Amino acid sequence: MLLFTGGTVYREGRFDEGPLAADGAKIAACPAGTDGASVVQVPDCLIVPGFVDVHVHFRQPGFAYKETIRSGTSAAAAGGYTTVCTMPNLQPVPDTLEHLRAQLDWIRRDAVVRVRPYGSITRGEQGAELSDFEALAPYVAGFSDDGRGVQSREVMREAMERAKAVGKPIVAHCEDETLLRKDWAVHDGGFARKYGFPGNAPESEWKQVERDLELVRDTGCQYHVCHVSTKESVALIREAKRDGLRVSCETGPHYLALTDMEISDDGRFKMNPPIRSAADRDALLSGLLDGTVDCIATDHAPHTPEEKSRGLRGSLNGVVGLETAFPVLYTRLVETGLVPLETLLRALCVRPREIFGFAPCTLSPGEAADFTVLDLNRPHVVDVANFRSLGRATPFDGWGVSAAVAMTVCGGNIVYHNLPDREATL
Ligand code: DOR
Repeated sequence: MLLFTGGTVYREGRFDEGPLAADGAKIAACPAGTDGASVVQVPDCLIVPGFVDVHVHFRQPGFAYKETIRSGTSAAAAGGYTTVCTMPNLQPVPDTLEHLRAQLDWIRRDAVVRVRPYGSITRGEQGAELSDFEALAPYVAGFSDDGRGVQSREVMREAMERAKAVGKPIVAHCEDETLLRKDWAVHDGGFARKYGFPGNAPESEWKQVERDLELVRDTGCQYHVCHVSTKESVALIREAKRDGLRVSCETGPHYLALTDMEISDDGRFKMNPPIRSAADRDALLSGLLDGTVDCIATDHAPHTPEEKSRGLRGSLNGVVGLETAFPVLYTRLVETGLVPLETLLRALCVRPREIFGFAPCTLSPGEAADFTVLDLNRPHVVDVANFRSLGRATPFDGWGVSAAVAMTVCGGNIVYHNLPDREATL
């Protein structure tokens, strides 16, 4: 048995005194003494349910030179995540069970945290013919064509009907390509105008959210919106929830912590959707506070240094996020008083499990021993040289942050450990 002592334990909205016990893969009732237990001292730390990131790109199979299941799950562990959901823009695209198997084999072999893949909505993510929903359903968290919007309303309607029939959510990357110039580099806003960059129109996102919400009204499908970045999307989703639709959404740390006026012509600020205006950022914060924005997901999207070296115009879309999310969010949102810690934890640990039907994780005896030990008083500077991820492009490189993930435990195994030696006894 492992006994984590000296910290505070976050259980269903309450901060209790420790210790927390793990027996094998499960949380156990705390014994009266410490006899026979290995004591792990986590002084002044906060123990929370393991984070869940419902939107990551691990590039295996197909693009292992950018990230592998091993490097990606190691980065997840270092970020405090015990479950991640992997997007299907892979080679092969997981559109049949046979194509998904390649990824499942890597996961079985190399994953250090739990990985729940998505199946694609359409074959090859080509937007035309639907994937094999029935065969994939038992193995996937949901269906997504992330990286691209499903352009055809009829294909999306059919996808929602099929997803509903197999009891899985549609997880939508919303992007109407007819409303988008192909050479966009940044949000179509202040930065684009000031420095003469081609802009990405916010309606390319929210018009497709609007279309899909109409389809959800018709089909009754469970529907989750990926990387929400615009104030209009937030308003639409708020209204849909008010109307009782089974709708949820996520945004990313970079949309909450930055605005387009704070970026520079560097590939580490290039992602899809782009970082938007202060008004959009404020709407996302309000949405997080009132529960419209359910989850914070990183959209961890690693590329090679060369692929990210071509400035805003030429770099590929995508930034890494697993290893910076909690320190950045805690420092920028919680310490500043913008967001209560409980709200942040709800978006990182609670809502993702509820939405995707994963086993509850409340640190109660009998549940899986999936938890994260946070040191809320560990000032440090984000340094990409320390990342486990093969990707290094992040807008947060060099940021001063005040909290750190001290330890991550998944299924009773310590999968990440960053306690100062003098304080830890293992
Ligand atoms: O920035 C992004 N990167 N957005 C996406 O939608 C896809 C992702 C990727 O796969 O690199």
